[in-house]
Amino acid sequence: MIELSHIAKSIKPSLTRHLFNLAKEYDDVVDFTLGDPDIQPHQAIKDAGCLAIQEGRTRYSQNAGLLELRQTISRYYERKEGFYYQPENEIIATVGAMEGLYLSLLSILNPGDEVVIPAPYYVNYVQMVQMCHATPIIIDNPEGDELSFDPSDVETAITNKTKAIIINTPSNPSGRIIPKHKIMALAELSKRHNLLVISDEVYKCLIYDNAEFKSIVGIEGMRERTILVNSLSKEFCMTGWRIGYVLAPKEIIGAMTKLQENVAACASLPSQYAAIEALSGNNDYSANMVNTFTKRRNILVEGINSIPRLSCKTPDSTFYLMVDISKTGMKSEEFAIMLLKKVHVAVVPGITYGKSCDNYVRIAFTIKEDKIYEGIKRIRLFINQL
Ligand SMILES: Cc1ncc(COP(=O)(O)O)c(C=O)c1O
Repeated sequence: MIELSHIAKSIKPSLTRHLFNLAKEYDDVVDFTLGDPDIQPHQAIKDAGCLAIQEGRTRYSQNAGLLELRQTISRYYERKEGFYYQPENEIIATVGAMEGLYLSLLSILNPGDEVVIPAPYYVNYVQMVQMCHATPIIIDNPEGDELSFDPSDVETAITNKTKAIIINTPSNPSGRIIPKHKIMALAELSKRHNLLVISDEVYKCLIYDNAEFKSIVGIEGMRERTILVNSLSKEFCMTGWRIGYVLAPKEIIGAMTKLQENVAACASLPSQYAAIEALSGNNDYSANMVNTFTKRRNILVEGINSIPRLSCKTPDSTFYLMVDISKTGMKSEEFAIMLLKKVHVAVVPGITYGKSCDNYVRIAFTIKEDKIYEGIKRIRLFINQL
């Protein structure tokens, strides 16, 4: 009899995956579940990856990734955000943002440490913290603004075991950007309580209508306590290439690099070369993407708001939309499962992102416009039949 570890036994597949898998049972499904855009990376990025394979540049790199890639990331951040990180010791290339998050947590957490996670949150944070034998403390306030959080609630949750706060801005699933005053308040309290901040900014490339975004790292005194996680998955539609990176103080990058040797050795080499091309600045390879997603977002917002008993706000960023289902009288999981069974439309139950989101389902507009129109038509039919 094989006895699995406590951690392996405690980890559960997310509801997102559950719905995605259930959706596979229908061949005509309109699948709004995964944040995996249908858009291809720019041809030049694909060519750079293919050329690396053809020329045999496919061996291991340094654990932190090719120096050329780290130099490119450094220049990219300097050019785009005005932050300078040293390629030699303040940057690591990772297997997507996911591995960046995991190595970040692994390098700072001891058993029993607490990590504060405000809802709505990206589902994997919670289990990743548990995988490090630490305790996730979720800030979930169903009475307040359901799709946001209050920094004073974060402060209340801090104990002498708290090591870090994880923030995600722009946010999956809410599509909102954490406003400047809240970022300032979070910075203030993290300095006061000597906490690290893990800032997951994988959607900062997908901001609509010039909405304002401020990274916490730009606030005085925050660079030395922020672990900034990003990736090419969303910005360049390279989800399956599994390439991301982390910018952080050198002690943390040093620890992550040591850990990387034992986890993945390094990120995939063809992906590292493709990332150099994507981030090099010779071309703006993600420019059209924002236009495509803006069109899709507008179709959905109008469509959903024209359906009785459903409503949604226009997201400022990301390719997600939270649909308020409270007037249907159903909670999110029941709604999502019925919607799938009755009209073959797959969405993610809001409860996945925290208790406060149980009146919502998440729609990812990572599919083509004709599918989006078809999805809206079926959702309307479903609601009309209730
Ligand atoms: C908030 C957030 N962080 C991280 C990730 C993972 O990104 P990657 O593909 O770079 O691992 C996702 C993917 O959906 C996400 O939504």
